[in-house]
Amino acid sequence: MKHFLDIHQTEVDDLKGMISAARKIKSARDGKGRAERDADAPLTGKMVALIFEKPSTRTRVSFDVGARQLGAETMLLSGAEMQLGHGETIADTARVLSRYVDTIMIRTFEENTLREMAEYASVPVINGLTNESHPCQIMADVMTYEEHRGSIAGKKVVWTGDGNNVCTSFLHAAGQFGFDLTFSGPETLDPSPEAMGFARGKGSRVVIERDAMKAVEGADLVVADTWLSMHDPQSARERRHNQLRPYQVNAELMAEADPDALFMHCLPAHRNEEVTSEVMDGPQSVIFDEAENRLHAQKAIMRWCMGV
Ligand code: CP
Ligand code: NVA
Repeated sequence: MKHFLDIHQTEVDDLKGMISAARKIKSARDGKGRAERDADAPLTGKMVALIFEKPSTRTRVSFDVGARQLGAETMLLSGAEMQLGHGETIADTARVLSRYVDTIMIRTFEENTLREMAEYASVPVINGLTNESHPCQIMADVMTYEEHRGSIAGKKVVWTGDGNNVCTSFLHAAGQFGFDLTFSGPETLDPSPEAMGFARGKGSRVVIERDAMKAVEGADLVVADTWLSMHDPQSARERRHNQLRPYQVNAELMAEADPDALFMHCLPAHRNEEVTSEVMDGPQSVIFDEAENRLHAQKAIMRWCMGV
């Protein structure tokens, strides 16, 4: 059984294989007509359940479209409308769903929900974001960096703002793909010590630099994310904004990075909060390539999970 739960729990060769498959999927699709594309449908007859306990635009649409392009059918389920939201255990839900569907993609709150789903499901489970991680996003981000600049190994990535779930998956990727990561944000929002420990244990240089201008010096990639994640209470908003304003990615900050540096954001972005529109829409930004590559990367992930 191949679950795709987290980047640090997946073998490096498998991760690299998925990125390379995603690139092939992308270029084959770009060059093919509709008839040929439809003939290339290795998931024909399969059913993919897409469970969302939080809102989503990219994950929802890219998984749905990707599964259909591979020939599968999809079933979109909102957590609140399932018995999952009304007291049925995750374990029972996992066992029942496994009798109907061939893969389960779940976006949820607690990492434990994902883990329990995977433990009790007899079909592959894919992590579509938890409070603690967002591995599908970072697979697309690594793919995006490499299609613009070549191997990400040895590069300097700077994460600005909140050391959140997406940052954790970036740290896992730093360890697995061999790049360095500098975190720049306030102490109260430092990244997970386990994720930093994982990356360091694999030989990556992980640095905390409170001064954003210093942090981005020589950066090959600058990354921002929302200052308030979906699982954070709205009551934290004002304090977060005050704390994080010095970490906004703007033209002045990008000027300190390497001239060839790229800018990434997993989206949705709050324009002129964590990043200015000037940077988002500027020549260094690859945000829409990242969004597109979710589709190709996740098709590779689904194929890997289902062994086709
Ligand atoms: N980046 C990302 O996961 O976007 P959605 O929340 O829209 O799925
Ligand atoms: N950190 C954000 C990512 C959204 C894709 C969140 O969890 O809300």
